[in-house]
Amino acid sequence: MKAMHSRNSVGYKFQTRSFAQLVLGLFVAVSILITGALSLQTSPAYAQTSGPDKPVAGATPGGTNASSAAQAEIWRQIRQGISGTVVGQDKSSGMLVQSDGQNWRLTRNGPLAKYSAWSILGMLLVLAVFFGVRGRIKVSKGLSGKTIKRFSAVERAGHWLLASSFILLALTGLNLLFGRKLLIPVIGHDAFSTITIFGKFIHNYVAFAFMLGLLMVTVMWIVHNIPNRHDIGWLLRGGGIFGGAHPPARKFNAGQKIIFWIVVICGISISLSGWALMNPFTTTMFSDTFAMLNGMFGTSYATDLAPVQEQQYQSLWHTIMAVFMIVVIFAHIYIGSIGMEGALDAMTSGEVDKNWASEHHSLWVDEMKAEANPSKPKSGGRKGLQPAE
Ligand code: HEM
Repeated sequence: MKAMHSRNSVGYKFQTRSFAQLVLGLFVAVSILITGALSLQTSPAYAQTSGPDKPVAGATPGGTNASSAAQAEIWRQIRQGISGTVVGQDKSSGMLVQSDGQNWRLTRNGPLAKYSAWSILGMLLVLAVFFGVRGRIKVSKGLSGKTIKRFSAVERAGHWLLASSFILLALTGLNLLFGRKLLIPVIGHDAFSTITIFGKFIHNYVAFAFMLGLLMVTVMWIVHNIPNRHDIGWLLRGGGIFGGAHPPARKFNAGQKIIFWIVVICGISISLSGWALMNPFTTTMFSDTFAMLNGMFGTSYATDLAPVQEQQYQSLWHTIMAVFMIVVIFAHIYIGSIGMEGALDAMTSGEVDKNWASEHHSLWVDEMKAEANPSKPKSGGRKGLQPAE
């Protein structure tokens, strides 16, 4: 009993320490992602070089007859603030055209839309090729006909709340990014307008269901997604692609843990930036993030962003995170449905076939057996479970 207790406390310390390291690592990863996205947005490579919207040096819209020096001065004042109109501390009050707005629009409709489309289509292609080459992953011993409980009703409800809300948000969000180009030529302006107005309401309200689902899933599964030593072996063997038999895993294997943390981190980031977009000009999240990054890495990002610049960054970041998550979730949906025999049962009936469970989550099956028969020694050649595993 004493030995058991001391093993438990070692396990507890290990979990606390690895969890703290994990949180720190994730924090740095998110910061790097933010920095990367911003240097992308401000890169001169994204300045528009052609097309009807291209600003022509020295020219005024409508072509006035003023001299080019006078025109340049007019445009300087329009973009930087008309003299005498700046009120108090608000530097933007005399500004008629905000050049950052043009950069934002060109980035959103240009590289952001283009790379988003390529990523989504690329993932679909990869999955189609993988399915063509590998086919459906079968249970190698065949189905036993006996089942084991994998997820409770509450766990499944949380998963499906998260999944269905995410799918609705993804569809209505992608309509905002691509709908004008893809749908208007097919269904016309009126139908597109109706769809988009309803889509906007769906997007804004379903966001709260998504946040609730995310909270449920995070609370219920975070303990099972703390990395352990088996994850390294699982990753080195490509989840069973290399080295024959399936590597051992507890309730979630390393691949699933990666999906879980992407869902949690991107989900929180999308929720925060979505909140900022729903409540315009009320948040300073990007100014605060820049100040934090400057403090941590000695960078010199602007920390006094105008409220409208905050919104522009939020909008780009929201889209980048959402598209990344959509691409990852395509892979998840594939493996959880047609990609693997026996997987979907876990989220429909909550019961999985015993042979499926032993193949993919052998250590978890051992744990379940040990829980059901506390007196029996554990099977599977393991000497006993360490609490921190
Ligand atoms: C029709 C769509 C979906 C299907 C068929 C599906 C299927 C599944 C299945 C079968 C599992 C359990 C795997 C196991 O037993 O180990 C699972 C787990 C999970 N699902 Fe889904 N899912 C879908 C959509 C989503 C979406 C949209 C999200 C997130 C936004 C999501 C997030 C998760 C997470 C975090 C887990 C636990 C970790 C993992 O197994 O990767 N799922 N899903």
